[in-house]
Amino acid sequence: MSTSTTHRVLITGGTGRLGTYLIRELRQRRVNSQIWSTGSPGSRDGIPVEHVDLLDVDHVARAFQSFGPTLVIHAAALSTADACLANPALAQRINVDATEQLSDLCRLAGARLVYTSTDLVFDGRRGGYHESDSPSPVMVYGRTKAAAEPMVLRVAGNSVVRLSLLFGPKLGQRDSFFDLQWRAITTGDRRMKLFTDEWRTPIDYQTASRAVVEIALANTEGIWHVGGPERMSRWEMGERLARFLGQSPTMFETTSRDSIGGAEPRPEDVSLDSSRWRCRFAATDWPTYEEALGWILSPLRS
Ligand SMILES: NC(=O)c1ccc[n+]([C@@H]2O[C@H](COP(=O)([O-])OP(=O)(O)OC[C@H]3O[C@@H](n4cnc5c(N)ncnc54)[C@H](OP(=O)(O)O)[C@@H]3O)[C@@H](O)[C@H]2O)c1
Repeated sequence: MSTSTTHRVLITGGTGRLGTYLIRELRQRRVNSQIWSTGSPGSRDGIPVEHVDLLDVDHVARAFQSFGPTLVIHAAALSTADACLANPALAQRINVDATEQLSDLCRLAGARLVYTSTDLVFDGRRGGYHESDSPSPVMVYGRTKAAAEPMVLRVAGNSVVRLSLLFGPKLGQRDSFFDLQWRAITTGDRRMKLFTDEWRTPIDYQTASRAVVEIALANTEGIWHVGGPERMSRWEMGERLARFLGQSPTMFETTSRDSIGGAEPRPEDVSLDSSRWRCRFAATDWPTYEEALGWILSPLRS
């Protein structure tokens, strides 16, 4: 995999859970890239990191002009349901307003924008969602992600990639859900409650990041659903991970999404139909859960 391109790729959120996989993918393809982060400037995997806070609109405009991207992969977000519920105004500014500004900057510069969205733009009443289904979010997080999508799609050549639940070990600082499950199994020092009644089509970080980069580098546009080949609950993910490691899943307790009694509902079935992506990028691997666990876990077990 050594296809360098003439692109200059700006990647927001390149320090995040998905972003660190995205930049690994870009580095392997020798794509000229720059990362934005609210952290210290420097470099990550040989890719320069610029300190740019998306809340600082003047600095965003200056930094954009200074780098001059031909392509922006926008993966920065207030990315958890809890954080968005706790601070909806901040979720609006990061997830919606900043996306609108990036879309405007890209349009004026003739750059393409690829925006990472989520399966949680749907209400979960039906499942098996296709790109043509209308968003109907029930959570603040999903509402802000859904509100940003039209700002991206109003410009020809842009893409929205709706990702399902991602799994795999962290490459950066932030623990993933998978890291917590892994520690519960391997150290036995905590028990975890896992939903049995919330359905997703989980996909590993590496496959998802490859999909986003391939969609970004290809001459494509519109909405793309990128999920895994199996519809699963978090409980099933934990149980199958424990069994894959030869253990009984005693560290996991079953729970219902209704039992957490939060201030907002959680959707029941937001599984995605990924056939558009699979038809267009049929050569890209699409591993089952256990196939992905096989190569994810081989370095962790050694
Ligand atoms: N993880 C999943 O299962 C999942 C599923 C579906 C969709 N997605 C989507 O995938 C994308 C990435 O999610 P993730 O889980 O990787 O998120 P994450 O680990 O929380 O990372 C969020 C990123 O956003 C950046 N960021 C946040 N506020 C910023 C600001 N004000 N200015 C500049 N950068 C800012 C952070 O950078 P610094 O902290 O370095 O500033 C960080 O790199 C999001 O669009 C999310 O909606 C994720």
